[in-house]
Amino acid sequence: MIALGCDHGGFALKNAIKTYLEENSIPYRDFGTMTEESVNYGPIAAAVAHSVADGECEKGILCCGTGIGMSIAANKVRGIRASVCTNEFCTEMTRRHNDSNILCLGGRVIDEAMAVKLAEIYLNTPFDGGRHAVRVGQITQIENGEM
Ligand code: RB5
Repeated sequence: MIALGCDHGGFALKNAIKTYLEENSIPYRDFGTMTEESVNYGPIAAAVAHSVADGECEKGILCCGTGIGMSIAANKVRGIRASVCTNEFCTEMTRRHNDSNILCLGGRVIDEAMAVKLAEIYLNTPFDGGRHAVRVGQITQIENGEM
């Protein structure tokens, strides 16, 4: 299950990604927003982040104007590694090296075709593990106040 969320700035990207998920029979849960009306991104980032942190959803995709507000908010939830990506390389690497669990995209930064391309890469790239697992473990230690 993929958790989706956006504010008004990311509404078009979320819709494009929804179409991609439906065409590929990938289950998702849409946490809103459902219109282009202006809305605050914090509660939506929180809902998606908690659904991933709690294990209800395996990964999340959050879209706002830049992807940045969503990522800052989502990263406040324990266990979340949310990454803003604007290109294919960073999207692949944040899965392979960071075991990122929420992809954040900006509707004022990339177009819908690129958003779908990045979502596809993100959802299909596994974590490399090995030395990167040590590094991700250190991120968890920081989160737990142990480093
Ligand atoms: C909304 O105008 C905009 O601030 C928001 O979508 C996002 O870009 C914040 O980081």
